[in-house]
Amino acid sequence: MKQSKITLSKDYRISKVDNRIFGSFIEHLGRAVYGGIYEPGHPAADENGFRRDVIDLIRQIDVPVVRYPGGNFVSGYRWEDGVGPVESRPRRLELAWSTTEPNTFGTNEFMRWCKEANTSAMMAVNLGTRGPDDARNLVEYCNHKSGTYYSDLRIAHGAKEPHDIKLWCLGNEMDGSWQMGHKPAAEYGRTANEAAKLMKWVDPSIELVICGSSNSGMRSFGEWEATTLDIAYDNIDYVSLHQYFDCRDGDVKNFLAKSCDLDNYIKTVVCVCDYIKGKKHSKKQINLSFDEWNVWYHSNGAKFEKWSEAPHILEDVYDFSDALVVGLMLITLLKNSDRVKVACLAQLVNVIAPIMTENGGKAWAQTIFYPYLHASRYGRGWALTTLLDTGKHDTKDFCDVPDVDAVAVWNDESEELTVFAVNRDPEEDEALTVNLKDFAGYVPTQQIELAGFDLKAVNTADSQNVKPKTKTLSGVYDPMPVLRLRPLSWNVIRFVKK
Ligand code: AHR
Repeated sequence: MKQSKITLSKDYRISKVDNRIFGSFIEHLGRAVYGGIYEPGHPAADENGFRRDVIDLIRQIDVPVVRYPGGNFVSGYRWEDGVGPVESRPRRLELAWSTTEPNTFGTNEFMRWCKEANTSAMMAVNLGTRGPDDARNLVEYCNHKSGTYYSDLRIAHGAKEPHDIKLWCLGNEMDGSWQMGHKPAAEYGRTANEAAKLMKWVDPSIELVICGSSNSGMRSFGEWEATTLDIAYDNIDYVSLHQYFDCRDGDVKNFLAKSCDLDNYIKTVVCVCDYIKGKKHSKKQINLSFDEWNVWYHSNGAKFEKWSEAPHILEDVYDFSDALVVGLMLITLLKNSDRVKVACLAQLVNVIAPIMTENGGKAWAQTIFYPYLHASRYGRGWALTTLLDTGKHDTKDFCDVPDVDAVAVWNDESEELTVFAVNRDPEEDEALTVNLKDFAGYVPTQQIELAGFDLKAVNTADSQNVKPKTKTLSGVYDPMPVLRLRPLSWNVIRFVKK
């Protein structure tokens, strides 16, 4: 059996994990809202039209923050269309996805839904077709108590108390030519800076995310971040990153190595942030909001009727290999939790999502639901530096890829320690030795495992083919625990202090 070793100590701390790293995303796109979280008339819908079966699944994951309403959608959105009496809301052509937006669900419905789903909002403003004025009006509508035009309008719309939304995105993917109102870096930097100024004047307690690159392959990557940060540094708090991986070429070995790219991407953006910090002689640190990440490719090219309402778009059906990649991406985010403070698995329901639904029918967990659920449940606490001794291999695009990737999170309050580990080897078991150093009295009690499935295995409305198994661990681990990681497996090894 191959051997790997991980050495853990309470002293080797990366950072306290910001729980918002387990966030997700709901866009007005396809069936994310309509037929996803909101479906009046569905047997499981409550009096608000919210699907309780979907809320139950979301509550299982415990999603701390949900980005809304887009995505590409937000760059053409008039937020006023989605508030007030439903019967007078306009139906609009939605240009980002070539659909029709009925606007029967909007800001106040979303905020009510957040309460039911036990989550909070990360609200995006439109800096594509609109600008600073509409952005500051939306902050006033959502966060100002009363006594002004927009706050009183909110109250008239039935939301007496302010929504008190703390986290805001300054547009979406403004570097991309596909974006409505796409701008060159300097122009976006100025717009974002002015919007940020006004928004914070309305509510100084909010935090703002400026758009970084749409992915690390953009030609303007690096330069975009440097230019925009140089302009808006003092008024913003986070820079965004987006990344989706695919396995179009069928090369799973290479697919599993793509989390190395994620790590490089994060570290490069950190360097750019700190370069601008140095250049400005600033004491302020800009952190990262990885507010779109996932695997996305299965649904590419799927046809739908133009200008239809809530069509089936971007409905990736995820297989077991995708779950492993999502697990590796989560490990990478946790390893970088000193700078990644917010992250959103894109998206949450139906659209490239861990949760799928049928209109009028069932809701179920896709394969990728499970690593996300485990990380959110057990990944809260202190992320620990992973001193990992493991074999390495090369793939088509990457060299020295670790055979095992792992990270540990220590929850000092509950006195639990969790190791998340993926064995990338397609054939061989790994014996993972865990050197617990100063974790005296901590013993492994459980190993949750996603392993042994066909790489193409998927879950459906009727069958949970890919789901985790939990083993109780009760052996004598002397001098150190040694855990078996099966070939191509996602593992959650839980230690508690006895
Ligand atoms: O999440 C789907 C889309 O991907 C989002 O709308 C956009 O921001 C990104 O390109």
